[in-house]
Amino acid sequence: MASTPAIRTQLTQLLGLKTPLIQPPMAFASGGVLAAEVSLAGGFGFIGSGFDTPEKLRRDIETARTVLKVEPGSPLPIGVGFIGWILDKSEATSKELLALLVEYRVKAIWLSFGVNLSPWIQFVRELNQQSGGPPILIFVQVCSLQEALTAINEWKVDVVNVQGIEAGGHGASYGLPLLTLLPLVLANTPPNGPLIIGGGGLADGSQVAALLTLGASGAVLGTRFLLSQESLCSEAQRKVLIEADSSQSVRTVAFDQAGGWPFPKGIDGRAIRNATVDDYEKGIDISVLRKNFEEASAKGDTDRAVVWAGTGVGLMKQVLPAKEIVRELHEECLSRLRNASNLEIKE
Ligand SMILES: Cc1cc2nc3c(=O)[nH]c(=O)nc-3n(C[C@H](O)[C@H](O)[C@H](O)COP(=O)(O)O)c2cc1C
Repeated sequence: MASTPAIRTQLTQLLGLKTPLIQPPMAFASGGVLAAEVSLAGGFGFIGSGFDTPEKLRRDIETARTVLKVEPGSPLPIGVGFIGWILDKSEATSKELLALLVEYRVKAIWLSFGVNLSPWIQFVRELNQQSGGPPILIFVQVCSLQEALTAINEWKVDVVNVQGIEAGGHGASYGLPLLTLLPLVLANTPPNGPLIIGGGGLADGSQVAALLTLGASGAVLGTRFLLSQESLCSEAQRKVLIEADSSQSVRTVAFDQAGGWPFPKGIDGRAIRNATVDDYEKGIDISVLRKNFEEASAKGDTDRAVVWAGTGVGLMKQVLPAKEIVRELHEECLSRLRNASNLEIKE
């Protein structure tokens, strides 16, 4: 992207980026290599820590540091994402996980899906105070205006990601379409409030340009980066994603029921419809659903194992290196922004 002009927003200035593209944390899918490659390409990548132990997260962060060629002790231009209800399970382990962010000078944390994220935000702020270094920036993902108002006015976080109901992976069953929720949140954000970014169902640079013209500081693309060479998706999962059309991306609690994952009330997930969803909708016995799902997941059989995907999946037809995805999105966004500026009619 060396010869291409950069795009400047408040987000790119805050994080020192060339392009306002964020690859979000994706549990079991975004490790250290993907996050680092996105950041190297001029965007910003998050490791999805999910159910990771401190040892596993340490390995992932060290991998990112190696790819980024950052010396130990120097700031690391990636983030790590945590899921609130998983952090709540063990305070001691979670504090160990979060302390790694200070140890490795990770630039940002992303929190979502908690019953109450406030204690964890407070803990990160305490870590920031003790470290004396540049603060770890706090991103929070929200699925409603109410959640956004809490993050903006009470928690006063640095960046709020507005997740539309189109988003792949977990999200709110009560969510709203991105083009409705994002303007609602922007209209309720004070001028000195957090930066607002958005995502859910995005697949190409024209949609990124649309978000920027709405007033967002950046765009978040998850499913698109599942189809990078560096994601942790299996070949079978990539094949499903490449072949899927958007109507196969459905919101469901089937996989949470089958996997026994206790996400908070109102949270479900968006994935490609398969036999697990069909069986759940038919009301099959839960023990049978779980057994079939466990066996399929162990074998990587996508007829029943989960393949998370947002509604943009039907527009995605190619696996590319993450760097190429960032370059393509950036160039298309630039071109659309230029076209839009030509729409002005001078009489
Ligand atoms: C495979 C997968 C795993 C995800 N895991 C997480 C996660 O661990 N934490 C989180 O906050 N969001 C997670 N998400 C949601 C993303 O943060 C983001 O909202 C979503 O990917 C955006 O929608 P899109 O996939 O349609 O681009 C995940 C999404 C996917 C596709």
